[in-house]
Order: sequence, then structure tokens, then C-alpha cells
Amino acid sequence: MSLTPRPGILDVAPYVGGEAAAPGFAEPTCLASNENPLGASPRAQEAYAALSAGLHRYPDGGAQELRRAIAERHGLDPARIVCGNGSDELISLLIRAYAGPGDEVLYSAHGFLLYAIAAKTAGATPVAVPERDLSADLEGLIGRAGPRTRVLCLANPNNPTGSCLSGSQLERLVEGLPGHVMLLLDAAYAEYVMRNDYEDGAKLVEASDRVVMTRTFSKIHGLAGLRLGWAYAPAEVADVLNRMRGPFNVTAPALAAGVAAIEDRGHATRSRDHNAQWLEWFREQTAALGLDPRPSAGNFVLLRFPGQNGHDAATALTWLKARGILVRGMAAYGLPDCLRVTIGTEAQTRAVVAALAEFVA
Ligand SMILES: Cc1ncc(COP(=O)(O)O)c(C=O)c1O
Repeated sequence: MSLTPRPGILDVAPYVGGEAAAPGFAEPTCLASNENPLGASPRAQEAYAALSAGLHRYPDGGAQELRRAIAERHGLDPARIVCGNGSDELISLLIRAYAGPGDEVLYSAHGFLLYAIAAKTAGATPVAVPERDLSADLEGLIGRAGPRTRVLCLANPNNPTGSCLSGSQLERLVEGLPGHVMLLLDAAYAEYVMRNDYEDGAKLVEASDRVVMTRTFSKIHGLAGLRLGWAYAPAEVADVLNRMRGPFNVTAPALAAGVAAIEDRGHATRSRDHNAQWLEWFREQTAALGLDPRPSAGNFVLLRFPGQNGHDAATALTWLKARGILVRGMAAYGLPDCLRVTIGTEAQTRAVVAALAEFVA
């Protein structure tokens, strides 16, 4: 007799990350995973390296120093911050804690793939709510939340569409959702947003007992390889996360680098400004090529291909890869006519535009 995992787990198509290798290229241009093209803050790199002499020690399981630094930087209550091994750990734990067999986990149809994966591994049913013009449909989400719904996951800005809801739209969502539903606001790209009606979710967490915000060090802080994220949650939810997480879920080098990264405001500002400049340039250039770059509040652009004369997204993906440029195909997100391109360094961004110009010529 073979061993049988719990229901739902074998329905999961394992998450496939962005490609990082192109045959024939020792150092391909990696624009497939929304990483920071400027790298990590030099101060974070130093803090990481300094930890090498103390690797025999367990980390601080309570992440005191990092929670203090995050709380100070964002004006939050450190007691309600929980750190995780990437924000994906915290998202999965939240779904597992609050949803199980017979329950539904809602997400906006072109939302981050992890939500459906985490729902299935919890034995819950993921429910994709259709979008309007590649943006979350507020009233559709509210209308679909029923007695079996436990969690609604919403990335804001959303990956891969780049769409972003305003603070008042989020308030409307909280108000409209039934009282038994957790709103999990995934603000992985919060620091890139330039619009002034944006709300990362912290205020909503403080005003409600059923909103949780997750954040990451993988994007603006350039620490994707270290795996570090955090959640800001109502006290009872923070308590649940602290019971569920591993006692040492965040490594000592990640804790040290995280503190240095959050204190290096200059690096975060440079990263944001670089992104704003080159994202706009990339959109202008690709629109001039006859492609359809969606507006984006993140560090990436969803690029729609017209599909005429063999100029479709799948062919473009292969064309770029053959030139050492890796971007993300979007078929798994239900967007087979699109590619998602991370904003790279100036040279990388120019290179991808030049390759696309050749492709459509
Ligand atoms: C919307 C969104 N949420 C969460 C994550 C996961 O981030 P982390 O590296 O913190 O697990 C990503 C990563 O791409 C993302 O795009």
C-alpha cells in the first residue's frame, strides 16, 4: 500500500519560478522574477557577510531586532509583526491556519499563483474571481464571498498584471466583505508605487480585526535569495502565525541583512527611482513597437502581443531566450498572449527593447 497525502496536495501543479539559465549564455539577462536589478544594499551585504563567523549559533526565533527596525521604519506596532522565510511562507501559513477542506479561498483571476497552490495544499478550494480589464473586480470579489469563503487574497499592486487599487477601493472591499472573511493584502511591491492615493494596508490592519498585510524583502530590498518577508496582522492572527511557524524560520544572516536593508533608505529610494524611470521608458518604447504594455505599479510590465505575422508571445519568449534574455511566459496565469518583463538595469532594459524591435521588424 502506498502512502497517501491529504486531499488537494496532488492537485497542485508545483510552482515554477522564473527561468535563470539560457543555453550558451554564461550570464543571461534575467528579467523573469521581478528581482532588484541594483542588487541588495551594500550595507545588507556587509551585515550578511559579517554573520559568517556566527553560523554555529541559532538565530533569534522572535526576530526582535528586525521587527523593531520594521516597526520604526513604518510606524507600526512591533508586537503585531511576524517575520517569515519569504512572504510566501507567511501567505501559506495564513491560508493553512484559516482555511481547510470545504472552505474557499478567493483570489482575483490573474493574481499571484501561490494563492491557489496554498489553498489546495490546505485542502481548501481556490476560487478565481474574473477580473475587469486585467484589474481586480471589487464588486465581483465582494459578491462571490459566501458562507464557505475564509480568505480573500489580493496582491496590490498585482503580479503579473501591474494593476493597483486605491486606498479607498481597499476600504470599500473591507467594508463589503462578510465579517468571517480574512482579507490578505499582499503588498510585495508596495515600495514601487508612485501614486498618492495608494495604501499598503497597514492602516486597514489597524482599523479592522480581519485584515492582514504581507510584505517582502525580495523586491525593493533585493534580498530574494535570502528569503525574508513579514506580516502585519491583528494581535490574534499574529499569535496564530507565531504558533504555526517554525521556531527558527528566519535565518540569522537574513535577520542581520534585513535590519541593514531597512535602515538603508538611500538604496530603497534609488531602487524605486530607477524603476520609475526605466519602467516608463520601457512602456513608451514597447508601445511604439506596436506592443501593448499594461500600466504597472510594480517593477515589471505585462506586455501583450498582437499575435499577427507570427508576433505572438510564445514565439517572442523563445526569440528572447535565444538572445540570452529571460522573461516570464504568462500561460500559467491565463494570459497566453502576454509576457511579463522585469525592469532591469539600463543596459538590460535597452537590450530587451532592442531585441523586441528586431522581433517585430
Ligand atoms: C505578489 C507577490 N507576492 C509574494 C511574492 C513572494 O515573495 P517572497 O520572495 O517574499 O516569498 C511574490 C514574488 O514574486 C509576488 O509577486
